[in-house]
Order: sequence, then C-alpha cells, then structure tokens
Amino acid sequence: MSSEILLDVQNLTKSFPIKGGLFGKRVGQVSAVNNVNLKIKRGETLGLVGESGCGKTTLGRSILRLIEPTSGKIIFDGKDITHISSEEIRAYRRRMQIIFQDPYASLNPRMTVSTILSEPLEIHKLHEGKEARTKRLYQLLDYVQLPKDALNKYPHEFSGGQRQRICIARALAVEPDFIVCDEPVSALDVSVQAQVVNLLMDLQKELKLTYLFIAHDLKVVEYISSRVSVMYLGNVVETAESHELYGHAKHPYTKALFSAIPVPNPTKHHERIILEGDIPSPVNPPSGCHFHPRCWKANQQCRETYPSVTSFTKTHEFRCYNPV
Ligand SMILES: Nc1ncnc2c1ncn2[C@@H]1O[C@H](COP(=O)(O)OP(=O)(O)O)[C@@H](O)[C@H]1O
Ligand SMILES: [Mg+2]
Repeated sequence: MSSEILLDVQNLTKSFPIKGGLFGKRVGQVSAVNNVNLKIKRGETLGLVGESGCGKTTLGRSILRLIEPTSGKIIFDGKDITHISSEEIRAYRRRMQIIFQDPYASLNPRMTVSTILSEPLEIHKLHEGKEARTKRLYQLLDYVQLPKDALNKYPHEFSGGQRQRICIARALAVEPDFIVCDEPVSALDVSVQAQVVNLLMDLQKELKLTYLFIAHDLKVVEYISSRVSVMYLGNVVETAESHELYGHAKHPYTKALFSAIPVPNPTKHHERIILEGDIPSPVNPPSGCHFHPRCWKANQQCRETYPSVTSFTKTHEFRCYNPV
C-alpha cells in the first residue's frame, strides 16, 4: 500500500554562489532556501506564501530538480530522488510538472498549440499514432475548456487567461501526479484569476492531482489550499491548516502578513500590524531568527539562536520563541 504522503522534503537547502572580480571567484553566497521541511499528502494543496525574494520559486524548482539542491532530501512517492541520474529524472518529470507565473514567456510564439501540446507526448512516447494523438489533444483542450480549433492557432491569438489554460494543458499532457503552481494567476487580470483557480481546483478533483501552490496573494492561497506554509528569508516559519493560520497565527511574521488582508466585515475588530524595515538580504541574513530585526516580540535569545520547530498541534507548527 502506498503512503498518504506523496512528497516529503527534508532539510532542503539551496545557496547560489556570488561571483566577482576578474576571474569570477566566488565572493559570497545567497542562501535562497534554508533547511526547509515540508510534507504534502496525496490529493491535497499545500499553499506556500511569503514576500517576493523569500525563496518560493527556488524551493519549487529544487523540488522538481530543475535546479540542484545544495543539501537535504526530496522523497517523492517513497523514493529519494535527490541524487538520481538525469536518465531517471526523465521518468520523474512525467509525474512532476510545473506551471509558471508568466504564460506569455513560457509558450514558444512560433509553435501552434497543437505542436506545444504534442511535444511532451512525443518526448515521453505517449498516445502515438495520428488518431490517438489527435484524440488526446482534444481531450487536453477539453480539460482546460478551450475549443478544438485552438489547435491550429498561435499563442498570441489568445488572452492571458487562455494562454495559462494552454500551459495547464501542456502540464497535464504527461498525466502528472504532482504540479508546482508557481504564482499561476499573479500575471492575470483579477477578473480571470478566479476562473483559472477554479479550473485548477476542478482538475485536481477529476485527475486526483496534488499541488504545491505558490502565491503572494493570501486570499487566493486561502481559497485553494488545505494547508499553508509561510516562508521568510529562505525559512518556513509556520505551517498550519489554512483556516487556522488566518485566525490563529502563532508566528509574529505570519500575524503581520495576514493582518494586511482587508476583512469583509469591517465592524469586526481587526488589528493591522505594519512591519517596519525592509526584508533583509539573503546574502547576509541577520543572526538568530532572521525575522528578529522587524519583530516587536524579539529578545536576546531571538537575536542569538535560530528557533527550532515547535509542534503546537498535530497540524500546526512554527519556529518562534515568543509566539503571539
Ligand atoms: N539563479 C540565481 N542566482 C543567484 N541568486 C538567485 C538565483 N535565483 C534566485 N536567486 C536569489 O534567491 C532569492 C530567492 O529568490 P526566489 O526563489 O525567486 O524568491 P521568490 O520566488 O519567493 O520571489 C532571491 O534573493 C534571489 O535574488
Ligand atoms: Mg517566485
């Protein structure tokens, strides 16, 4: 029997070297992702939120091994895929896909939709033969609610929302189990964001997909995710079920982040926490808890040592000495 956990990320770290000088010597490093742990259950959506530059994309791409992690482990469906060969990665690519933020940049403008959607089928030798291929292409268009005549058109003939539907169809072509959705609606008009989010949710049910849903829009994340992890400067600082995080955040950073969302009922008491200062650079992160220079609850211990994980309930954990 297979386990309930599809993806288990353990102590994942990714640093990028900073090169400088005449001979491109390594002069420092960016700690983009630092000792991150997360588990994603089959069929669920884990949301991943945090300000721009906190390491969300790097984490998503490291999980898929589109970039090589510096250390840590990625266990997918019970198999450690951290160090598998490029030959083996190919087989896993079929099961793990990614949808990017910018549907304009991720589609080749010189390819028709038919070529775009056929490419992954060719690479993985799926639905071979003209008849089977065409049938599959129609099915993919049907999944994303685009008409059959889309096949002979080019990306520029579509709206932003339709282009993202083409990207979703391309990701679905190889029948994946797991999809990293990296801010899939951030570049779209607000009016079409909900349509694309609802489509992703319908497809998840129909095709039993598991998502890591990256976003900086907390409303979107709350709507789509069963659980949410919050990142700050390369670290996951809090993880909980999404309703729990909105009402009962324990980490001061989460509390501040979520207090910035307008509430639908303004008569309800709503304290808005304004964070002072900018996000520090991941090149020289602050000592101790990386959030301490902006935190109103910080004390000496926070300045000195990074907090380990506190399991508040079975489904709620955080890294903080002075939770709110
Ligand atoms: N290829 C790279 N080389 C050097 N630094 C990078 C690279 N990719 C990302 N970074 C740095 O890593 C940090 C995290 O970036 P990213 O993962 O894109 O954050 P997010 O997706 O949350 O906005 C940033 O400081 C960014 O500048
Ligand atoms: Mg990003």
